[in-house]
Amino acid sequence: MKTEDIKIAVVGLGYVGLPLACLFARRYEVVGFDINKARVAELQAGHDSTDSFTDDEMKHSLTHGLTCTDDESMLDSRNFFIVSVPTPVTSNHRVDLNPLLGATVVVGRHLKRGDIVVYESTVYPGATEEDCVPVLEQVSGLHYNEDFFIGYSPERINPGDHEHTIEKIRKITSGSTPEVADFVDSIYNSVLENGTHRAPTIRVAEAAKIIENCQRDVNIAFMNEIDHIFNAMNIRGSKYKVELHPSRTRTRRWPLHRSRSLLPHPESTRSRRNGIIALYCPHPQRHDGNLHCRPDHQTHEPCRTHSEGLTHPHARLHLQRELQRHPQYKGD
Ligand SMILES: NC(=O)c1ccc[n+]([C@@H]2O[C@H](COP(=O)([O-])OP(=O)(O)OC[C@H]3O[C@@H](n4cnc5c(N)ncnc54)[C@H](O)[C@@H]3O)[C@@H](O)[C@H]2O)c1
Repeated sequence: MKTEDIKIAVVGLGYVGLPLACLFARRYEVVGFDINKARVAELQAGHDSTDSFTDDEMKHSLTHGLTCTDDESMLDSRNFFIVSVPTPVTSNHRVDLNPLLGATVVVGRHLKRGDIVVYESTVYPGATEEDCVPVLEQVSGLHYNEDFFIGYSPERINPGDHEHTIEKIRKITSGSTPEVADFVDSIYNSVLENGTHRAPTIRVAEAAKIIENCQRDVNIAFMNEIDHIFNAMNIRGSKYKVELHPSRTRTRRWPLHRSRSLLPHPESTRSRRNGIIALYCPHPQRHDGNLHCRPDHQTHEPCRTHSEGLTHPHARLHLQRELQRHPQYKGD
């Protein structure tokens, strides 16, 4: 396949898929497909309720290369599929691959000889080749790495961050053969401003994404604990801010980030106003291994996964006292 011949389909037009579709539409003809008719209708009308794009930007994409549809037959003409559907976890903390496998079935029905399927959904190492490929083979009747090929390029965007937008992110790419890896890499490179990193294998690319998410998870848990503890110990506001600042000068300090996509717990809102940077995951029920922490999931319970562990017993004692004094403060 030559670069100029590719016809892209982005399957799943959510926080990840829509920015990707709009980015590729700057250079290629893109069909964005989603099974959610309401989502497709709003996009077709030039509105993105996830706020990744203004109405003007959305309308510009629609008149410059992007078509949004829930009509599966439009995938027939595509030869480069990008899958960006959710990979949530169940209440038992098991990964729910149903949306991913459902989207894979859809793609499989339209797969042709020579086509490439690139997965962007966050998955555990091995899932793309061991779980998705057999479904593609079964539905399409084609053979992996003979008739069709795959790639994996984990998404790294942070929804709501209008500074580090998708085109500025350095993407990890990979492919099922060295040639396909090169080709996938060249396609992504053709629309990105800061280039790509080509991983040696699909599993390595999957693993890289998991490491990033786990580090963020630990980071958030740690900062939540700091918030619990310091609130309970009445170390608040400017005192904490002033102490935090010099720690930046210490060598080998682990960089602590505040995830912009997280909503604060109401208690954190107060803390944040006073300068504390801890945040809670706002949606414990929907907490998945991928940490979709988004502005639209508004519940005011701290996330257990994010806030368990890490608390020093001494501080826990303070926290318990604080909880008795302020029963409305939920803690973990
Ligand atoms: N949101 C983030 O911050 C973020 C960042 C990096 C990676 N990711 C990963 O990217 C993937 C997508 O996440 P998201 O936040 O965009 O999810 P999302 O829920 O915002 O969007 C997913 C879209 O896929 C659609 N969909 C579901 N099944 C489908 C199917 N069979 N065919 C077509 N469309 C289908 C849904 O209707 C929805 O519009 C997940 O694996 C996630 O872990 C998310």
